[in-house]
Amino acid sequence: MEYEKIDWNEIWKKLMIAQQKLDKMGDKNEYWNKKENAELFWKRSQEHSKKTCDILMELPFTSNSRILDIGSGPGRLAIPLAKKVSHLTAVEPAKGMIEILKENIKKESIDNIKCINKRWEEVDVENDLDATYDIVIASFSLGMPDIKEAIKKMEQASSKYIYLYWFAGVTPWEKHSIALWPSLYGTNYIAGPKCDVLYNVLYNMGIYPDMHVFSMEYTNNFVSIDEAIDFYKKRFIIQTNEQERILYKYLKNILVQKNNQLVEYGHSKRVRISWAKD
Ligand SMILES: C[S@@+](CC[C@H](N)C(=O)[O-])C[C@H]1O[C@@H](n2cnc3c(N)ncnc32)[C@H](O)[C@@H]1O
Repeated sequence: MEYEKIDWNEIWKKLMIAQQKLDKMGDKNEYWNKKENAELFWKRSQEHSKKTCDILMELPFTSNSRILDIGSGPGRLAIPLAKKVSHLTAVEPAKGMIEILKENIKKESIDNIKCINKRWEEVDVENDLDATYDIVIASFSLGMPDIKEAIKKMEQASSKYIYLYWFAGVTPWEKHSIALWPSLYGTNYIAGPKCDVLYNVLYNMGIYPDMHVFSMEYTNNFVSIDEAIDFYKKRFIIQTNEQERILYKYLKNILVQKNNQLVEYGHSKRVRISWAKD
């Protein structure tokens, strides 16, 4: 057995690039650039604030800590964290997301967040950041094809802790794409790389992190099938009547009737991968 020769970074790269290409067909890369989608993400994250509290509770920060939040989105973690620490730098490439983040910073009169509107791959640790940081966080934001390089840079930016959050198993939204892609776009959908690949990349880098698996449930509720179609049409960038017909048929199958509403139930397994630098 020559499993030591498996290039896990290459596996991550292939799966990530394949998924990003397929998502581009549905124009999903543009998804977080649109302010309305970022706003919806923010609203929904506020409805699940218990999950955010759980994450904040497990981070080893003090009031003097300096935090780097990579792929911060609209600030689900950054906004409450900044109130508890001395400084937070948020790296976020999507226009819609960073707009909402800046609005949230203003609304909450926060003055210790620095925003950087770049992909992590484009960030120069020495020139763009005020490194080092006590804790580097990347929460469900590892859309980085060369994950090994991305992690090296996180280690460079961190003086101690790194906390990554990612997925274990195929996510509910990937299951939708797997079911829909052949009829919407005439091709199979490839799900992105998961925590098994990530763990192996880290292991090969000589990093032996703590892993903690947890469940996350969500629901999407609609008063009518038309409202549901409007919502998913944006997700899958449905353009033709034929695509809408396919979507309608699919939604009729997966949405569950409850209390006069149509509900999508999503169950996912997530993982926290964390370590302290030697
Ligand atoms: C699902 S949101 C998560 C937001 C936030 N971290 C949270 O946990 O609520 C994913 C975010 O990661 C960002 N992202 C994706 N790829 C990235 C990259 N290569 N560098 C930096 N951020 C990235 C996206 O723009 C998006 O805002």
